[in-house]
Amino acid sequence: MAIAVKIAEFMERSSWIRKMFEEGAALKAEFGADQVCDFTLGNPDVPAPATVDEELVKIIREPLPMKYGYMPNAGLPLARRAVAEYISGEQQIKVNPDGVIMTCGAGGALNVIFKAILNPGDEIVAPSPYFVEYNFYADNHGGVLKSVPAGENFSLDLEMIAGAITPKTAAVIINSPNNPSGTIFSAAELEALGRLLEEKSRQFKRVIYLVSDEPYRKLVYDGVEVPPIFPAYRNSIVANSYSKELSLAGERIGYLALHPEADDFAQLVDGFIFANRVLGFVNAPGLMQRLVARLQGECVDVSIYQRKRDLLYQGLVEAGFEVIKPRGAFYFFPKSPLPDDVEFVRELQKFRILAVPGSGFAGPGYFRLAYCVDDATIERSLPIFKEVGKKFCR
Ligand SMILES: Cc1ncc(COP(=O)(O)O)c(C=O)c1O
Repeated sequence: MAIAVKIAEFMERSSWIRKMFEEGAALKAEFGADQVCDFTLGNPDVPAPATVDEELVKIIREPLPMKYGYMPNAGLPLARRAVAEYISGEQQIKVNPDGVIMTCGAGGALNVIFKAILNPGDEIVAPSPYFVEYNFYADNHGGVLKSVPAGENFSLDLEMIAGAITPKTAAVIINSPNNPSGTIFSAAELEALGRLLEEKSRQFKRVIYLVSDEPYRKLVYDGVEVPPIFPAYRNSIVANSYSKELSLAGERIGYLALHPEADDFAQLVDGFIFANRVLGFVNAPGLMQRLVARLQGECVDVSIYQRKRDLLYQGLVEAGFEVIKPRGAFYFFPKSPLPDDVEFVRELQKFRILAVPGSGFAGPGYFRLAYCVDDATIERSLPIFKEVGKKFCR
């Protein structure tokens, strides 16, 4: 075999989205793209704010020294300062710019964090359902992801989390608003999790970090706010990106931010900067750093996603699906009417609706629909969901 056995196994295990994509491509080739409702990919389709192009043009015209040159591995000081100042409001704590490292998206930030904190065999506890790449990010750095079931309505089940923490636990990772469930954890849940991690850190005489993956922080509906993690726990790290809030997913720009009062702050920051360098990122894209430094607080038009959510939610409920109305992100995670979610997704394909089985997110028994698609696709899908509902939901 040309590739490592482990990679071949990982590729097989993680192939849901790819498989669905390939099977969807075959269906589209057979029936025409407008005859297939593809809800598989979480690719933000709302246009970036006009200020993105406007500011980029300005930046390109500015005669800056070393505009395209190497820079500090942590990123441009002006970008780190701008992020620190802005997220001080979000996190309700004065964030130190030294604790902000510019990264290649949230994915880059998570890899940098894991590389810096994991010893071989260390565990990361992840409440399910979760973004499937966490497994591979942990493995990239010698760690192991340990999945724990969610509580009711995808809340944090603190007893389950407590039971999963061992002397090998280096971190707990949470994602709110959640991909795939759209759940937002409450301030009370975060405070309780913070208390648990304080207690477990003392018990096992090691710092257990709380990693908060927040790329959907600004994609929230009905005026809901995403509570900050910094007030809930000192040894916490935020991973975030502009992929969704500015629809800049292809430009690979994000950051990590360390709580200003985290233990061994300076050593940890040095570790992150070193990891960013040796992972080969070297630094986050320079033009994008200059851009986001000027666009703190900007966001795509979230009302567009909200409209799509409302349209599809009503259709799913009317069709008889059991589904929680997501308060953030752009996914539905309905209960599969068949016990086997993979089988149900195959049934959906027969109706030319493409979805991803919940098993792909450590959430068997559910399926994911990404509603970052055009309105026409959603409208076309509604009578089809009704038909599917008649067959499977009643
Ligand atoms: C929960 C979650 N975390 C991280 C990422 C990675 O995003 P980025 O483009 O910022 O690397 C994604 C992307 O879909 C995601 O859904």
